[in-house]
Amino acid sequence: MNPERERDKMSEVETSGWMKIVEENPDHSTWYIERFQGMEAEGKDLAGEARFVDAMVPRHARVLDAGCGPGRVSAFLADLGHEVVGVDVDPVLISAAEKAHSAPTWIVADLAVLDLAAHGISEGFDVIVSAGNVMPFLAPSTRRVVLERLRRHLRDEGRIAVGFGAGRGYEFAEFFADADAAGLVIDVKLRTWDLRPHTDDSDFLVAILRSA
Ligand SMILES: C[S@@+](CC[C@H](N)C(=O)[O-])C[C@H]1O[C@@H](n2cnc3c(N)ncnc32)[C@H](O)[C@@H]1O
Repeated sequence: MNPERERDKMSEVETSGWMKIVEENPDHSTWYIERFQGMEAEGKDLAGEARFVDAMVPRHARVLDAGCGPGRVSAFLADLGHEVVGVDVDPVLISAAEKAHSAPTWIVADLAVLDLAAHGISEGFDVIVSAGNVMPFLAPSTRRVVLERLRRHLRDEGRIAVGFGAGRGYEFAEFFADADAAGLVIDVKLRTWDLRPHTDDSDFLVAILRSA
């Protein structure tokens, strides 16, 4: 799809919370990229989510990184041999991802209008990962539609792994209701990407979902 058509489609939906922040502070994306580059340089482990996802799928799986940012999760999974598509609404982050990592396919798109077939990608995914608080950055009016769009991009038996924190404007109970309305079932609820169980007072949620 040409970038102009993608922009038209994006203008049909409420602007993502992330892009509202970028509109107010144009340096935000660069700050975010440099923050993760700094952590990488310090030798921090930035691959916890990617290892979790890798354990969910066979070798050479099809992975969609929904809200991929500068490509932290996508790049690790592509290095393991998975076929990865990274999608993000922020063109500055996708540009940084493209520069740093050539293997995944990178696409600028709002998840609320996600239609990968229009980009020539019609095969579904074994797993869709949405790590690093993508969910609370979605425009509230698009949350259900995003979950529905993600579901439509799954292969049969495919699953979605989502992780985000409490206190960011998207209550876990609301997310569970939205998932249900989007035709998704939650198979697993954890509180960390290293598999600690979720409880009522957990301040983070990692959920694995599948089509109902
Ligand atoms: C905190 S960053 C996390 C980036 C990446 N998942 C990671 O963990 O490194 C949140 C990301 O969500 C993306 N995002 C927010 N709303 C979006 C939307 N509606 N469509 C696509 N991406 C979105 C932002 O552009 C940003 O890259």
